[in-house]
Amino acid sequence: MKKLNISKDQVREAVSFIKKQIDCSPSIGILTGTGLGESLQSIKISFSCEYKDIPNFPVSTVESHIGRLIIGSFQKHNIMAMQGRFHLYEGYSPAEVTFPVRVMQELGVKILILTNAAGGLNPSFSPGDIMVITDHINLTGHNPLTGPNDDGWGVRFPDMSAPYDHQLAESAANAGKEEGFLLQKGVYAGLPGPSLETPAEVRFLKTIGADAVGFSTVQEVIAGVHAGMKILGLSVITNIHNPDNPFPSEIDQIIDTARKATRKIESIMGKVINKIDGVVL
Ligand code: HPA
Repeated sequence: MKKLNISKDQVREAVSFIKKQIDCSPSIGILTGTGLGESLQSIKISFSCEYKDIPNFPVSTVESHIGRLIIGSFQKHNIMAMQGRFHLYEGYSPAEVTFPVRVMQELGVKILILTNAAGGLNPSFSPGDIMVITDHINLTGHNPLTGPNDDGWGVRFPDMSAPYDHQLAESAANAGKEEGFLLQKGVYAGLPGPSLETPAEVRFLKTIGADAVGFSTVQEVIAGVHAGMKILGLSVITNIHNPDNPFPSEIDQIIDTARKATRKIESIMGKVINKIDGVVL
């Protein structure tokens, strides 16, 4: 791990760069995962730039992650969206992985929508399904709140009894129904990766109550909860793990399945955002 903590000054430098480019304050933040960066086509962009142009911003090293920040409007809301995120397996510290969430917090974001690609553990899931994340299990061995607490960002011991917002999850489930597809619901297990799961690990994950597994999201959600954000997590189930009949999961296939689910993710996010009003914010 490179650095334990990111200073508020580093975040504020990035924020001040972004603020100079925009004349609105985003209330909704979106972080897209593997193969899902294209799910933001409907945003009316007012400013976009590559991560490398933002002071102190980490740069995504994963090919299927675009690495671009977008600020714009969508329906009646101002949005900050990130095409591509940072992972522990790239060598980033938890503080670096959650840097974008802190930037969002400083910009006034109140609702955080995260998407990811995940392996299915629940035998009733199929590749291409969308799962609304109801809860997570942090198995990464890391926590972005390790180290001195910044009371200006949040409390020392944030409550995690409802990390994913029930209203947003229900809104996503309703959006799926309206669009004619069933949304799965389940628990996401966050692992450090990057090696995929062994059959014994799959059995273990199923036993402890996980429905899907991936290498992202949990750090950002912890930082988001700490920041007081309401959170919606959507996983695209790209492959199914069957420990009794294991077969190789190919990364190209995973990315391809995620990309094919872009339209579904986009339509769910669109409908959920449409229903967000002053009450939720
Ligand atoms: N494991 C971890 N991450 C993933 C998987 C998986 O099987 N599929 C997509 N992302």
